Amino acid sequence: MQIKKVCCFGAGYVGGPTMAVMASKCPEQLFVVYDINQQQINKWNNKQYPVYEENLDEYINQTIGKNLIFTCDIDLALKDCDIAFLAVNTPSKQFGMGAGSSLDISYIDSCIQDIKQYTLTKKLILVEKSTVPIKTCDYINAILQNKNICVLSNPEFLAEGTAIQDLLNPDRVIIGGPIESSKQLASLYEQWIPKDKIIFTNIYSAELSKIVANSFLAQRVSSINSISIICDKIGADVNEISQCVGSDTRIGNKFLKTSVGFGGSCLKKDLLCLIYLCESLQLDEVAQYWKQVYLLNEFQKQRFINLIITSMFNSLKNKIIVILGVSFKAKTNDTRESASLIIIKKLQEEQAILRIYDPQGKIDNIEQYQSLDGIFQGASAIVILTEWEEFIKIDYSQAFNQMAKPAYCFDGRNLLSGDLMKSLGFLYYGLGRV
Ligand code: NAI
Repeated sequence: MQIKKVCCFGAGYVGGPTMAVMASKCPEQLFVVYDINQQQINKWNNKQYPVYEENLDEYINQTIGKNLIFTCDIDLALKDCDIAFLAVNTPSKQFGMGAGSSLDISYIDSCIQDIKQYTLTKKLILVEKSTVPIKTCDYINAILQNKNICVLSNPEFLAEGTAIQDLLNPDRVIIGGPIESSKQLASLYEQWIPKDKIIFTNIYSAELSKIVANSFLAQRVSSINSISIICDKIGADVNEISQCVGSDTRIGNKFLKTSVGFGGSCLKKDLLCLIYLCESLQLDEVAQYWKQVYLLNEFQKQRFINLIITSMFNSLKNKIIVILGVSFKAKTNDTRESASLIIIKKLQEEQAILRIYDPQGKIDNIEQYQSLDGIFQGASAIVILTEWEEFIKIDYSQAFNQMAKPAYCFDGRNLLSGDLMKSLGFLYYGLGRV
């Protein structure tokens, strides 16, 4: 089978950028991105992209109207389609059994219903790109019962903030499922990715690999955050520990930065999904092991909130606090599960007056500053929650002069030099640093 047309269910953080890069690298194929949300589709079509990623506009401009289409028309998406990616959201389930930990696959479900009702005229390779619970492939096959549809798992490993780079040059591409269809899917990727980076696995391994990868990443963040807590007690510096430990090539230096806790739409939900899987397999010890990674992350956020409140003598009422950053990390506009959400809520409960700024991220129903102009005037504290470069470049000497005294700085990302901030007069608090 020669692949001529590819469609993708879901025009979000994964579907949009992935299809834009694929379309630019595979000029002979047509890519149709389908979404049920008309507003989302309009944004893609009107250059008001719902996703902020460096260089994304370049890839959209190259391809849109040529071999890339964003649409709400399912017929346009599925007609004569060879490969259909499922890149819809799979949040933590909010109801019934497994509420708060199992993944909700109802959005996958509705895609499958759409495909089932559609009269396919040729063989279709249906690809799980969304992160799904283990054995979702069996569930999909059981519903479809169509020999002309072959289900594969091809989890996405892009990271928000570096999505385009990750799509252009991924560490690996994992494809699980029947080998003939897997090779056909691989032929798309081989147009720009070296063959030796494509790993063929059985379909359950492919599904599980994504959940495991995110749980390992979460585990590294919780590991270094747990060490930051020890550092705070004994006067060691967690940044130095990261450097000393991370320079061991067996350990590696990535994902060893301490922070106010991991956020984002994926790490927590996928970690919770792994815990749920262990529990449902009655593997209590394994479940407990991974649960601690999650609990440590919650503790790290609470610890930072406590640090702010106690350092300010439990008296935040009517004090102006500048919040720098609401995106869950730099270079993305995504605020899902951002530590900022809970910290802002807690500071509001203390009746502080919040001035919030982020270069890209926006939180619903909360007024934000559009720039840093005037933001420090009369403020008692600065709280840094996202590691945007822009925040390093602030003239903190000028900010200090404008602020009420004492002037606090709580650096939840260890972004600034503590010595410098203290020399300017700030009461500066990082994490795991003297
Ligand atoms: P998202 O929420 O940004 O986008 C999902 C899109 O799917 C939305 O625009 C929604 O309207 C659409 N949708 C829902 N039901 C639909 C249906 N029946 N038909 C067509 N469209 C439908 O989600 P995101 O972040 O792109 O994640 C998608 C999947 O990829 C999730 O499973 C996630 O875990 C996984 N993933 C996400 C990564 C990320 O960094 N955001 C990275 C790797 C994997």
